Amino acid sequence: MTQIDPKWQEEIAKRRTFAIISHPDAGKTTMTEKLLYYGGAIREAGMVKGRKNSKHATSDWMEIEKKRGISVTSSAMDFVYKDHHINILDTPGHQDFSEDTYRTLTAADAAVMIIDVAKGVEAQTIKLFKVCRMRGIPIFTFINKLDRHGKDPFELLEELERVLGIRSYPMNWPIGMGSYFNGVYDRVKSRVELYEEGGNHEEIKFFEVNGPEDPLIGQRVGEDLWQQLQDEISLLDVAGDSFDPELISKGELTPVFFGSAINNFGVQTFLDNFLAMAPAPSPKKSNIGPIDPYTRPFSGFVFKIQANMNPAHRDRVAFLRICSGRFERGMTVKHVRLNREIKLAQPLQFMAQDREIVEESFAGDVIGLFDPGIFQIGDTLCVGESFEYEEMPHFSPEFFSKVTVKDAMKHKQFQKGIMQLTEEGTVQLFRTSPMDELILGVVGVLQFEVLEYRLKAEYGVDISLQRLPYQIARWLEGDKATINTLMNRSQTVKDRYERPVMLFESEYQLRMAQEKYPSITFHESSLGL
Ligand code: G4P
Repeated sequence: MTQIDPKWQEEIAKRRTFAIISHPDAGKTTMTEKLLYYGGAIREAGMVKGRKNSKHATSDWMEIEKKRGISVTSSAMDFVYKDHHINILDTPGHQDFSEDTYRTLTAADAAVMIIDVAKGVEAQTIKLFKVCRMRGIPIFTFINKLDRHGKDPFELLEELERVLGIRSYPMNWPIGMGSYFNGVYDRVKSRVELYEEGGNHEEIKFFEVNGPEDPLIGQRVGEDLWQQLQDEISLLDVAGDSFDPELISKGELTPVFFGSAINNFGVQTFLDNFLAMAPAPSPKKSNIGPIDPYTRPFSGFVFKIQANMNPAHRDRVAFLRICSGRFERGMTVKHVRLNREIKLAQPLQFMAQDREIVEESFAGDVIGLFDPGIFQIGDTLCVGESFEYEEMPHFSPEFFSKVTVKDAMKHKQFQKGIMQLTEEGTVQLFRTSPMDELILGVVGVLQFEVLEYRLKAEYGVDISLQRLPYQIARWLEGDKATINTLMNRSQTVKDRYERPVMLFESEYQLRMAQEKYPSITFHESSLGL
């Protein structure tokens, strides 16, 4: 094993790489802005691309998106805060929700889950949460918008457990809510952080107390709220989970924070605690065993490919998560799948505002590589001994369409276009077994339009899409004979790697199949298959 420079090891140990998971409108953009603001990465909050009403047309990479006002940047933003180098991986969440969003989570070492206090756990959060769960990464919860009236905090904790199956440990506890919101009681530091309506909360205003029974609290927030706080904290102490760093690191217990991102309230406390608990890059699985980020030279994997970020050039950018060692601009690395050396001349790093050429990066960071068509999702790049990181999983699409080319003369371009665009990974391609028909599956329905548009614009091919009634895909594993019988059914297809996949119209249908074929496991993603 190569011994690498201790200075590099120090740099790697500073890295904290996470993604935010939430349902649209919970406050992901607002939170990202505030976090970047603390890191000094942006001059004023309100500059992050990705806002719905954004004027940052430069990031819109396709007409279709301009029309809809969606901006796709979905990469990584980094900033330095209290001697930590933090990478926030962007998870597209609105109409541009796609499989990329899931895949980004495979490049994160931790997740921050933002929940709207009034809405609780919502659909998209559940989906993203499941992926984090599969990977066993720690999940930190921020319950947002406490300046508005919302659900009872106990009800929210109960929802986390019932809907997501995760236990929780509230690090702080709200004192009132909505127009009665006075702040939070910090259970760790035993202090009250004060919320002031209209305040900027750039500096935390707090007073230390001797537990929730301290009369100082009553003097400040009033008898009723003080009494309520005492009752609630004693209930938490008795009936709630204990703080357990081991369970937190495995993603089985989530530390919960209450706050109001738009008012900057609770954000710094969240960030400080997050940094204390979130992991630095850790070893990642490969076909030669775990790869240690500190002692191995440079390696990483492509988790996302994005086309045409700059409409003036039809370039693609492959996003690489560095998993070990140090990267230096111009270095020559091995592209393992192609078994060839490539020079990484102009790697990009993505800031809140612009992309810029990166000279040096470390395990934990994300860089963008210009892609002349040589990268696929899941490709490993490395220096020294050759190996491959685990295959990038596929996740169940939710919308399916049969696709055919309108002009049979264009069949060749059609095949080429479909292959290239499915390699980028936002659309999954399946084939029916007897007829060899092509079925496309997407996580967000907009991807069909994107595909149609791009096949026309980039390959000159018109396609017909016929929506199919399926909503669920399951990768089949188990008894070969049973799988072979199932392959004769129109709802059983093969994915790009010839793995058998069954499509269902409803959860009910899926359950029926599970009962009927107990020798088969129906996997929600191709992870580990
Ligand atoms: P998203 O990226 O998760 O979709 O959410 P985003 O941050 O865009 O926030 C969604 C809406 O919720 C925004 O309002 C935002 O201002 C608001 N919001 C975020 N955090 C808080 C909070 O702590 N308290 C309250 N009351 N509102 C919050 P909008 O009207 O949709 O957009 P905008 O006009 O404010 O940009």
